[in-house]
Amino acid sequence: MKSSIGEKIKLSVFGESHGPAIGCLLEGLPSGVKIDMDALLAQMARRAPGRDKTATTRKEADIPEIISGVVDGVTTGAPLAIIIKNSDTKSHNYDNLRDNPRPSHADFAAAVKFGGANDIRGGGHFSGRLTAGIVAAGAICRQILKEEGITVGGHILTIGNVAETSFDPVNVTAAQLEALSSKLFALNNPAAEELMRAEIESARLEADSVGGCVELAAVGLPVGLGNPMFFGVENVVSNILYGIPAVKGVSFGAGFGYASMRGSRANDQMYYDDEGNVRAYTNNCGGITGGITTGMPLIVNVAIKPTPSIGQPQKTVNLKTGENSTLVIEGRHDPCIVPRALPVLEAALAIALLDLLAQGDRV
Ligand SMILES: Cc1cc2nc3c(=O)[nH]c(=O)nc-3n(C[C@H](O)[C@H](O)[C@H](O)COP(=O)(O)O)c2cc1C
Repeated sequence: MKSSIGEKIKLSVFGESHGPAIGCLLEGLPSGVKIDMDALLAQMARRAPGRDKTATTRKEADIPEIISGVVDGVTTGAPLAIIIKNSDTKSHNYDNLRDNPRPSHADFAAAVKFGGANDIRGGGHFSGRLTAGIVAAGAICRQILKEEGITVGGHILTIGNVAETSFDPVNVTAAQLEALSSKLFALNNPAAEELMRAEIESARLEADSVGGCVELAAVGLPVGLGNPMFFGVENVVSNILYGIPAVKGVSFGAGFGYASMRGSRANDQMYYDDEGNVRAYTNNCGGITGGITTGMPLIVNVAIKPTPSIGQPQKTVNLKTGENSTLVIEGRHDPCIVPRALPVLEAALAIALLDLLAQGDRV
């Protein structure tokens, strides 16, 4: 099993949902960076469970402990290790899942791949809980990016069939992204919150779940980050984003919308602004051409599936008896993953962008 990623900034994630702790190791960071713990804890709180009606009722403090790589609040340049303790575990709820795998969770595929030795409790290493370490690592990367004038952020774009206002892909600002990144339920148009919450609540009341999309952006990126073909910005960013459990779609700029456009509408026509910078009137390419940043805002859309663990009876198979069976899932689950996934996806984007920045002009 491989749970690490990155070329120059390397992230490894470890732990299991109901083990003693989860965490991550971040290698390749520059020395001398003062860690803003308040900013880090604020990001952790956005993802933590049990804080909002749209989330699982599991209660975890989610206080990250930095056990290596930081002395007196400043990075030493050594590998930075973070652990986050697990405390609120109710493992008996998962006893029957080893024999009766949950539809659309990883239980069946993992049981076959690891010969039944994988930790099933709380989803084990496949749990969304593992993303807490990614948020902590991302918060540190965000601080370093900020010093380089780069800001990352995002918002909930859709929940089920409820949509809110997309970013203006030409005019996203750092201040806008910063403001969104401090919110628990981040929206450009706060009026959409009530409808989105109602969509989640209705799923919850029906022992069901609902999916959605988030839209991420990064501004302040220099022109020229990335590479053609296999190590482009799209490749590097989507690689880490697909590592986040429940992510099933990633697109950049107009994405699949390009398929129904003509070139005359799709092309981002260019001009010199007052400072002599090359800009574009539109940003359908999402800030990337040929795998390389254009200097326009980076725009990424991410689709998140409905939480697989739902309370309704579902058809599955009994791996022990070899017969078809019916499963009723117990335990505490998010009726919608989207709000808690947003800070994770922002963090993942920050880690990927810092890695690209650290790679410089590698080809
Ligand atoms: C923040 C977060 C929370 C999640 N919470 C749950 C949950 O409560 N129940 C569940 O079945 N899946 C949850 N998931 C999703 C599963 O971990 C994921 O669907 C599963 O590991 C299978 O992976 P895949 O959906 O990427 O194929 C969560 C994911 C994230 C990112």
